Order: sequence, then C-alpha cells, then structure tokens
Amino acid sequence: MKNLIAIILAAGQGTRMHSNLPKVLHRVAGQPMIDHCLESIDSLKPDKIFVVTGHMAAEVQQHIEARHAALVAAGEAPYSEVQCVEQTERLGTGHAVKQVVPFLKNFQGNVLVTVGDAPLLRTETLDELIRRRKAHSVAATVLTTNLECPRGYGRIVRNRDGTVRKIVEEKDTNVYEEEIKEINTGIYCFDCQKMLEALEKIGTENAQNEYYLTDVVEIFNNMKLEVEPVVASDNTETIGINSRVELAQAESYLRSRIARSIMEQGVTIIDPSNTYIDKQVKIGGDCIIHPFSIMQGKVEIGPNSVIGPHAHIRDSVIGKNGHLRFCSVEEAVLEDRVSVGPYASVRPRSVIKSDARIGTFVEVTRSTIGPRSDVLHACYLGDATLGTDVSVGAGSITVNFDGKDKHNTIIGNNVFLGSNTVLVAPVNIENNTHRTHNAVLKGDVKTDDN
Ligand code: UD1
Ligand code: CA
Repeated sequence: MKNLIAIILAAGQGTRMHSNLPKVLHRVAGQPMIDHCLESIDSLKPDKIFVVTGHMAAEVQQHIEARHAALVAAGEAPYSEVQCVEQTERLGTGHAVKQVVPFLKNFQGNVLVTVGDAPLLRTETLDELIRRRKAHSVAATVLTTNLECPRGYGRIVRNRDGTVRKIVEEKDTNVYEEEIKEINTGIYCFDCQKMLEALEKIGTENAQNEYYLTDVVEIFNNMKLEVEPVVASDNTETIGINSRVELAQAESYLRSRIARSIMEQGVTIIDPSNTYIDKQVKIGGDCIIHPFSIMQGKVEIGPNSVIGPHAHIRDSVIGKNGHLRFCSVEEAVLEDRVSVGPYASVRPRSVIKSDARIGTFVEVTRSTIGPRSDVLHACYLGDATLGTDVSVGAGSITVNFDGKDKHNTIIGNNVFLGSNTVLVAPVNIENNTHRTHNAVLKGDVKTDDN
C-alpha cells in the first residue's frame, strides 16, 4: 500500500474514432486500452482506482467488472479495487476529477490522475511521478514531453526555477506560448488535500468554457505551491489515442516494445516488424519466431520451439521443441516436440501429445492425438481420441456429425489406418488393429476382424 489513489479519466466520447464501441475498449496489442491502463496502475498497488465514465458508461463499467471477474477466476486477482464513477455531463477534465472528490475528503496522500486512452504508459514512469512529488514535497508533478509538432496539446509554461507556472490549452495560447514544444501529457500526481483546495477555485473562463484540470497548476502557483515537471524521455509512451490512425501507431509502438522484451529474454525474432505478439504471451528461451506469426491472447511456448513462418496461435500452450509453420492453433494444448503444418488447423479443445505430428492439410478439432502418433496428409479428425503410436493414412476422415449430433471416434494404441479410411462415428478401434486403404469403419472394430 502506497497511500495512493488513482483516477483514470475515461468519460470522453472519442468522436474521432467514428465508432460504436467506447474509445477505451478499442484494443491495442490484443487488449482494450483501459486494461493496459489498469494493469500499469495496479502494479503501483494503489489503495483504490477510480474510473470516471461518461460516454457509454454502462458498457465501460460492465467491461471492467467482467475483466475483474475473469482475473479472479484465473487466480490473478488485481491488487486494487476499481470503482467507476459516472460523469453525467462532460464539462471538462477538472469537472471529471471533481466527480471523485466525495470519495477523497479524508484521504491524505497521493492522487494519480491519468487518462484511459494512453495505453503505452509504463508503471515505472507513473512511479517516478509519484516518487518525485513526495521526494521534493511539491503540490504536484506533471508528466510532460517534448514534441516536434505540439499541435492540439496543452503547453507547459515554466517559471525561471524550472517549476511549472501554468498549462495553457492550445485554444487559449498567445503567439509565444503556441511555439512551446513541451506539452502536457494529461498525467499528474497531486497531494490530495491541496488538489481538493485548488479544484474549488477552477472556473470556466476559457476558450472552451470547460472546467480545466490544468488550471490547478496556476492556482497552485498563486497559492505559492510548487509544481514539478517530469519529462518523459520517450514521447511514444505518452501518446493519447484519438483516432484509428493513432490507434495503429500505438499498436506498432507497443508491439515493438513487447518484441524487444521477448528478444531480451533470449528469443530470436527474425523480423519483429512482421511479427505480432500480444502482451500476455510467454515464450521460452532459444525459440525462433519466423515472420508473419501472430500470437494472440494467452499463449505459452516452451523453449527451443520454432514458430512460423505464418503461424497463428491463440490462447494455447505449446511445449518445448515444437515446430509450427503455416498453421492455425486455437485453444489447444501441444505437448513437447509436436510438429504442426504446413497448412494445418488445430481447433479448440484439442490436445496433441508429445512427439505427435500433424501434417499438411490436416484439421483437428475437439480431439486428443496420442504420443508419437502421426496424422500427416489431408485428414479431418473431429471428436476423436487417438492412443499412442497411431498412424492415420492420407485422406482419412472422421464422420463425426450425422446432421444432428456429434459422435466420438476412439482409436487404440498402435493402430494403423490405411489411406482414405472413413471413420463413421461412433467408432471404437481396438489396440494394435491394422487396416488397409479405403476402409469404412464403424461400431466396435477388433484386431481379429482382419
Ligand atoms: C487534455 C489537457 C491537455 C493535454 C491533453 C493530453 C485539459 C484541459 N487539457 O486536453 O493539456 O495536453 O489532455 O492528451 O485537461 N474527459 C472526461 N470528462 C470530460 C472531459 C474529458 O473524462 O469532461 C477525459 C477524456 O475521456 C480523456 C481525458 O479526459 O480521457 C482528456 O480529455 P480530452 O478532451 O481528450 O482533453 P484534451 O483536450 O486532449
Ligand atoms: Ca485528448
């Protein structure tokens, strides 16, 4: 516990996204922006996180609650409680923070104010903001950055001693202020009680007739209190997303950050700019990732695996020394030394046991393929359970669906099926059965049926 309360402003409409989805629910590197924000803040272990909602408040709140429940169910319960507070009228960022004031009356500590559309912000940067405020006993710290093109942002006006005198919104700038390249990222750490005092004094005499949170800075100066700037050296970290173009930029920045961290842990990524790895993906040492591979959701890959080119893996666990190329693997478990592809699809609820091979033009769904079994050429296996050392011949298929119900296929150990075997489920093939090509098998198939 850090004596910290965080407020995420997320009431805005996000008009420029031209979307029916609330802006903060748009995804970056596989997860909604708001989740990135909640994650980086939760690592600071705040006493509580408030999210100020407005536009499509119900949807945002529902998402936050569902996310919390899912994390708890996965045994990854977040540290802090998250409470949504609705701002029914959007009267500005100052007005948005004021919605949380009733919950802060007795709080003596740090209030971190951030925005729901800056998904690249790192915990370390937020921590620095809090640390500097405490260390230098200033009323607030403001995260700033320098931009070649500062258009649209509030400009930072400094005092001679380097502290921040005021923040001027672009629409309110004079010709000199307009030239300032140091901008307000919209992220601050405040001394709670001083913030409450200053918030009482903000008005709406400005170009947009809004309650600006940024006015608090000048008010502090008038109260003889100091505001310290913390300059973010990496100006990609603080980008706020207002449009789909910025969404794509953020996606590319975040992907390269993820790729870098994976490479630093001992994984080779041949071409990071053509590899798409979500934030939650874990990849073991000495894996090699070839281009055009996509790893989405919760994916874990054991060491020494070779992935791609063109592997699309979603929510799956892959063992060590795997080899996956030109394939799709979804909600599946692949044990050690499994090979899949080229041109194969392993669909949900499939388990491919150690040393098994899934070859070219093979589709496997809701099936278990036993250890060292081979399904190598142009096959379809649905609702099947294969034992150890099974060989399924080219062109073999399960007939698992009769138009109404799905039926199971069970194949014992050491079974050999010739090419073009049709398995009309329900079918149960005894261990050690060998069958020649073009067989149609149904019911109980015994070894001595031969
Ligand atoms: C704000 C800052 C500006 C800064 C910029 C950084 C103010 C007055 N200006 O400007 O100095 O450079 O962010 O991106 O604060 N929001 C609400 N309720 C409201 C209004 C806004 O919750 O009534 C939320 C928005 O959803 C958004 C955030 O506050 O997440 C910032 O609002 P926005 O309208 O984007 O502010 P800017 O004009 O960009
Ligand atoms: Ca903005």
